[in-house]
Amino acid sequence: MEATKEFGMRKVSSICSISEMDDFDLTKLLDRPRVNIKREKSFDERSLSELSIGFGLNRGLDNFDTAYSPGGRSGLDTPASSARLSFEPHPMVAEAWEALRRSMVFFRSQPVGTIAAYDHASEEVLNYDQVFVRDFVPSALAFLMNGEPDIVKNFLIKTVQLQSWEKRIDRFKLGEGAMPASFKVLHNPDRKTDSVVADFGESAIGRVAPVDSGFWWIILLRAYTKCTGDLTLAETPECQKGMKLILDLCLSEGFDTFPTLLCADGCSMIDRRMGIYGYPIEIQALFYMSLKCSLAMLKPDTEGKEFMEKIVKRLHALSYHMRSYFWLDFQQLNDIYRYKTEEYSHTAVNKFNVIPDSIPEWVFDFMPTRGGYFIGNVSPARMDFRWFALGNCVAILSSLATPEQSAAIMDLIEERWEELVGEMPIKICYPAIENHEWRIVTGCDPKNTRWSYHNGGSWPVLLWLVTAACIKTGRPQIARKMIELAESRLLKDSWPEYYDGKLGRYVGKQARKYQTWSIAGYLVAKMMLEDPSHLGMISLEEDRQMKPIKRSASWTC
Ligand code: GLC
Repeated sequence: MEATKEFGMRKVSSICSISEMDDFDLTKLLDRPRVNIKREKSFDERSLSELSIGFGLNRGLDNFDTAYSPGGRSGLDTPASSARLSFEPHPMVAEAWEALRRSMVFFRSQPVGTIAAYDHASEEVLNYDQVFVRDFVPSALAFLMNGEPDIVKNFLIKTVQLQSWEKRIDRFKLGEGAMPASFKVLHNPDRKTDSVVADFGESAIGRVAPVDSGFWWIILLRAYTKCTGDLTLAETPECQKGMKLILDLCLSEGFDTFPTLLCADGCSMIDRRMGIYGYPIEIQALFYMSLKCSLAMLKPDTEGKEFMEKIVKRLHALSYHMRSYFWLDFQQLNDIYRYKTEEYSHTAVNKFNVIPDSIPEWVFDFMPTRGGYFIGNVSPARMDFRWFALGNCVAILSSLATPEQSAAIMDLIEERWEELVGEMPIKICYPAIENHEWRIVTGCDPKNTRWSYHNGGSWPVLLWLVTAACIKTGRPQIARKMIELAESRLLKDSWPEYYDGKLGRYVGKQARKYQTWSIAGYLVAKMMLEDPSHLGMISLEEDRQMKPIKRSASWTC
């Protein structure tokens, strides 16, 4: 409540259900055989566990993370944020807004998204003239923070409509819940009609599946709801169905022995072969976050409640698995280094039979005494020790990482500044794959050579995510330093898609200019630092009673 006053925010009862969801108590829920809560019960009558699944409750916003963060625009070209500033905004901010507005895409005169890049100088357009779901997220947040929610609402509606298309690759029909990687609006000037074509992976290079799209859609739906207080969109049958179809895809039972989500290579922001197949951290963190967001937005009708129960169980297992087996710090590395192998039965310590000889040399030097991170992938006899920025930041924002783990992730960034940040925030992953390993892992991909593009390149878009993580962990000074670095180059270099080199000093070999998410990522980072209450849109609180789990705990518990 206090924080609400302090940040001068409006109190809107309709959004309270979302904030209640943020601090639910999983353990209690699991003990409950069936969830049955009447919406009209007052807050005082409810136990905490009930609050986690209630919908439409009335309670004041009681903390910073969950605060309603409205924008409020002054004029078309004037960002609301700079109007509020007591100091001169950086000259890049106005340029960035102008560039962001230039990238807007309209469908029947309504804004529905932003194109990936507005780079006329580039000879090949490929699909950079399309609206990518993942690329639109920072644009959407910028618009929301600036008090312009309409484009976000239109985008959410348009994409959920696309989800209902029948999707095929050759003779194979894709899952109903699949969300597009991107879509394009076609204008017919003669007929004066607009139409949309979407790509669900059937046209994408390598025919990669955009597993992250559905998760980003859910996360954005929550951000929109949280920011505007408009619950009606999330409550529409279309959005409820959209969420359920996505959840159906990832909560269905199969042969899995792990609660993590099994994926093919190129399933996310890294949309080319890069050895991320299996259980990539980026997808696991987004999966976790979207499960929590869905729990907050699903209507507790009969079907909705069934999903909620499944979600609660999955969240419980997923956080246990991730916090225990994906986490790496100095102590953990030392333990793995000394692992025994070929252990049979549930008493095994080295559950995945990782052979210590497979630990790459670089990780011993890279691991500081202070700090830690979620590694790239864990599966039988395989640990991908690479550090990935997006997955670790989303783990902090979703509270998949415990507060201790979140602090350790930030410690690592500080301790390994040169490697991870260098001259341009921030590396997509560390380290790069080289030589023979590059041949085998990427299939000799000339775009993903060492320290370029997805293979250790530096991506300005990640600035918004790392800034959000900095604010959440109480380290805004780290974000400030990164933003300064970005400000020394981004505009001068015409907002490149990525930078190359060990320090991220060179504009990427094939990087697009005026890459929209580089522009929007910068704006979102600036606006969040200026008004940290915006963080509530993309941050979820830690679940009570889901404290760190000791690795010695039994596999079956
Ligand atoms: C590249 C990136 C992908 C992005 C797309 C559009 O394919 O790897 O993450 O969505 O470009 O910018």
